[in-house]
Amino acid sequence: MPDGKIGAGGEHPRIYVCAGPGGVGKTTVSAALALGLAVSGRRVAVVTIDPAKRLATALGLEELGDEPHRIDERRLSAEGLQVRGELWAMTLDAKSTLDRLIGRLAPDSRSREEILGNRIYRDLSSAVAGSQELSAVAKLYELHHEGGFDTIVLDTPPSRNALDFLDAPRRLERFLGGRALSIFLGSSGIAARLIGRPTFLIFQIFARAAGVDLLGDLTAFFRSLAGTVEGLSERARGVSGLLRDPQTTSFLLISSPERDPAKEAISLRAHLEQEGMPFGGLIVNRVHLDGLGGHSPQEVEALLAPQLGQRLATRVAENLADFDVLVRRDAESIAHLAGAVGDQQPTLIPQLAEDVQDIDSLARVASHLIG
Ligand SMILES: Nc1ncnc2c1ncn2[C@@H]1O[C@H](COP(=O)(O)OP(=O)(O)OP(=O)(O)O)[C@@H](O)[C@H]1O
Ligand SMILES: [Mg+2]
Repeated sequence: MPDGKIGAGGEHPRIYVCAGPGGVGKTTVSAALALGLAVSGRRVAVVTIDPAKRLATALGLEELGDEPHRIDERRLSAEGLQVRGELWAMTLDAKSTLDRLIGRLAPDSRSREEILGNRIYRDLSSAVAGSQELSAVAKLYELHHEGGFDTIVLDTPPSRNALDFLDAPRRLERFLGGRALSIFLGSSGIAARLIGRPTFLIFQIFARAAGVDLLGDLTAFFRSLAGTVEGLSERARGVSGLLRDPQTTSFLLISSPERDPAKEAISLRAHLEQEGMPFGGLIVNRVHLDGLGGHSPQEVEALLAPQLGQRLATRVAENLADFDVLVRRDAESIAHLAGAVGDQQPTLIPQLAEDVQDIDSLARVASHLIG
């Protein structure tokens, strides 16, 4: 990656957001980038989301809750890595991050208990799809303001639509400033009048049938939430600003060379532009790089025959020729992708023979991200 994308400009705290379609290697690249930056001297925190089990083990993430945890230098030096900075890692448990946030923002312990114990909150907060994005956003705010890190690398959730994440702060703001909330913040009598009689009746019938007071629950929930609204709004606005500040944040667009992810990456790039989110560069992961290296199969065969013998040389040349099809397909896709997102020097990470699940293979990925 050329200077200026990653690594340069040490005077500002930097936030790298690894965004991209599902399954292309966002979590892998986030962890590798953080490792590489720590090796080169930064104090880095990486926030990963649902890392594969073996990767979590490799990073010592299994034992901890959702606070950053420093990775033991001995673990890294055992792999031959000289870390000049510090590597901190955490994984986001959507629900408990939200619980803690509410815990901190609630004006008093009674409203905190009310919120956390409320059935609706429990359902709401365990609907992980939405709250994971909110949690990531809340955590980012916290780490940036209180963590004392030079660099934060933020992985993004495997949303069906990679854009969900970008919209999370705004959705939260909209919800907090919206009508639904102000209705429920009134008394239940007012709520009943405002939400309209038919709905109110449905609530009552439901309450009788199920033996639960849904409206009462809702009202209590939103009323106890009222005290925390200001804090949540402030965070949502703060994060919206942070994500748009080119002095601070850089969005790295991760894709694979495959057709569908590449298409999604291109539309994500357009969305970043629209939203005024600073684009830091394209990273294409799982690229097939070494095929015949521009030679014909016959040339490769002739080159290998003295060492391997004729029969083996023929087999190897055939295999490389098959692989070459993928190499050329990837090269075409990358050229198209690079043109479409406006980064003519994308960073390429090769397809490794195995999953990236230990420090050693993370370091190999990192070496392609940071010279
Ligand atoms: N360069 C690579 N070579 C080989 N395997 C890779 C490479 N990069 C990632 N992988 C593997 O691909 C799988 C998916 O990677 P990863 O979990 O990082 O993707 P993701 O974008 O975070 O997925 P999700 O959208 O589900 O969160 C993992 O098993 C990982 O080890
Ligand atoms: Mg992931």
